[in-house]
Amino acid sequence: MKNLIRKISRVLGIKAEKKSIDSIHESLVKLDTPFRNLLLSLYQEAPQKGLDNQLHQLDGETKISIEQGLWLYEFCISKKPASTLEIGMAYGYSTLFFLAAAAKNHKGQHTAIDPFQKTHWKGIGLSLAMECTPKMEGKAIFQLIEDYSDRTASDIIRRGHKFDIVFIDGNHRFDDVLVDFYLYAQVCTVGGWIILDDMWMPSIKTVVNFIRSNRKDFIELPTNISNIAVFRKVGDDTRKWDEFSAFPVAK
Ligand SMILES: C[S@@+](CC[C@H](N)C(=O)[O-])C[C@H]1O[C@@H](n2cnc3c(N)ncnc32)[C@H](O)[C@@H]1O
Repeated sequence: MKNLIRKISRVLGIKAEKKSIDSIHESLVKLDTPFRNLLLSLYQEAPQKGLDNQLHQLDGETKISIEQGLWLYEFCISKKPASTLEIGMAYGYSTLFFLAAAAKNHKGQHTAIDPFQKTHWKGIGLSLAMECTPKMEGKAIFQLIEDYSDRTASDIIRRGHKFDIVFIDGNHRFDDVLVDFYLYAQVCTVGGWIILDDMWMPSIKTVVNFIRSNRKDFIELPTNISNIAVFRKVGDDTRKWDEFSAFPVAK
């Protein structure tokens, strides 16, 4: 059943993405070069250079939609975050939208976490990010942490580093996403945002149901993008040690 749902969603997703070159170009027109050109090439599924300098075919599935990317871009333009973080880089679609917004804002450090960037993904996302990452005050505004999100979170928590926007798009199993939310809520600034991708999946919907029912330190921001859930951190986590509200499990 799960596979069937996944297949249907993929087919729908692929259909939605089967756009003409002209319409992709039109959608991305508000982005500055080089981000627009790199994203155009990605959404056209042109083979991309890895860190080995070889061209690699993309799998055609692992990406956020253009609509989602543009939403992230506009959101970052409007909030002007000092620091953003994404869990799950893959080919770097979301990374390029984050970097395009930081370049436009002349503000913002972006961090991506992905343990498989140089292995499974051949360093394609990293190569693209290195090609276009601007420097601000002589410092590159992008860093990749090649590690699992849970281990990385503990390091970040100990260092006391905070992020204004966190995009969760890593391992999509229920417990991994819940752990990502639990840990990265601790490094999100009060007034900052956590965005969860892939609301078509029961695992993500169920995590979101937990947040809605149990995390009063987060309020949800409705959007016109059905595949994401967006929460604003409005305070500290002040739940009692045994507090628990039941929440629906999605099927
Ligand atoms: C759906 S893809 C991300 C797509 C990307 N955000 C984009 O827009 O192109 C999921 C990514 O999560 C990474 N990933 C899997 N488990 C992870 C973990 N435990 N910590 C961090 N990243 C993980 C995978 O290597 C993969 O690159």
